[in-house]
Amino acid sequence: MNSKLARVVTIERFIMDQERLHPEATGELSNLLYDIALAAKIINSHVRMAGLADILGSSGSINVQGEVVQKLDEFANETMKHALHHTGRVCVLASEEDEAPIPTPAGYPSGKYAVLYDPLDGSSNIDVNVSIGTIFSIHRRVTQQGEPGTLVDCLQSGRRQVAAGYVLYGSSTVMVYTTGHGVHGFTYDPTIGEFLLSHPNIATPPVGMYYSVNESNFPRWDPRVQALVKRYKGLDSDYAGKNSRYIGSLVADFHRNLLAGGVFAYPADVKSPRGKLRLLYECAPLALICEQAGGYASDGGCAILDVAPEELHQRSPLYVGSRDDVRLAEAMLADAPP
Ligand code: AHG
Ligand code: MN
Ligand code: MN
Repeated sequence: MNSKLARVVTIERFIMDQERLHPEATGELSNLLYDIALAAKIINSHVRMAGLADILGSSGSINVQGEVVQKLDEFANETMKHALHHTGRVCVLASEEDEAPIPTPAGYPSGKYAVLYDPLDGSSNIDVNVSIGTIFSIHRRVTQQGEPGTLVDCLQSGRRQVAAGYVLYGSSTVMVYTTGHGVHGFTYDPTIGEFLLSHPNIATPPVGMYYSVNESNFPRWDPRVQALVKRYKGLDSDYAGKNSRYIGSLVADFHRNLLAGGVFAYPADVKSPRGKLRLLYECAPLALICEQAGGYASDGGCAILDVAPEELHQRSPLYVGSRDDVRLAEAMLADAPP
C-alpha cells in the first residue's frame, strides 16, 4: 500500500470514524455533513472560476439585510438549498439571503435538523479576489417530527447547536467543523475532489498575537471599546500590543486567529447599536467552534452561546478568539478590572 495513501483521511472517512464513537448515532448528521461538504465543493468550483465566468458583481437585488446581493451570494445560497432541502435530513433552512425560513418543500420528507447559514461571507471582497467563506450552524429540530420545520426550530441558542462549521475559499479551500468533539480542518485537494484531514484537533492559544477590528469605526465606539482597542494595540504600558490584521471577511479573520491566536471584534457602535454581524449564522457557529478549540466568544457582556435569539436575522456585537483576549474585552466593557 502506498504509504501516502495509507495516511490520506477524507472528510467522509473522518466523519464515519467519528460516528463510530457514538453507537447511538443514526448516521443522519454524518450524511448532512457530507451534503454540506458537497455544496462546498460546488461553491468552491464557482469561486475559483468567478473571474472567468459571468458571476462577478452584483445580481441587482437587495436582500433582507438591505445589502446589494452579489451573484456569487445568490449562487452559493441556491447551491446550499439544492444540496440540503430534498435529503430528508433537514426540516427547515435559514439563510442570510432569505427573509423567512425555508421549510422542506412539499413532496420531500422532513428531517430532524435545522440548518442556518451564511452562504457567502465577505461579499465585499468577491470582486477583488480576497478570501471569502461559507458559515453553517446545525440544530436538532424542536417541533413535531414529520411536519415542516418552522422559525421555532431556528431560534435556538448557540449552546444547543449539534454542529457548526465554515468553508474558507482562500489560498486553499479549507472546511472546518465541530460536532462538539473538538475542531477539525480539511483542505480541499482539487486533483481528487476531496477534502483531506489537514488540521486535526485545532486548539487556539489563550492569548493571541493578532487583533482584528475595523478601526474606521473608532469614532463611533463607546469609550470603553476605544480603551479596549488601544490596549490591544499596546498603547497601555503594562500590556504587550498585538499585530493588526483585518481582511474584512469574517471567516478569513476568524480562521487566522483560530490557528495563530488572536481576537476578532465587531463592536456595537452608535450607527449599529447591536453590531453588524448576525447572531444565528455568523456569531453562534463561530462561537461553538472557538469554544471547542479552547477559545471564547462574547457579545461583550456574556457568552455568545448563551444569547437567546428573538429574531432570525438579529445582530450581535462579537468578540471572538483567544480566551484571555476576549475575557479582557468583557472586563473592560463592564468597567471591572480584568
Ligand atoms: P457578509 O458578506 O456575509 O454580509 O459578511 C460581511 C461581514 C463579515 O464577513 C466581515 O467581518 C464584516 O462584514 C466586515 O464589515 P466591515 O466592512 O463593516 O468591516
Ligand atoms: Mn457574513
Ligand atoms: Mn453573506
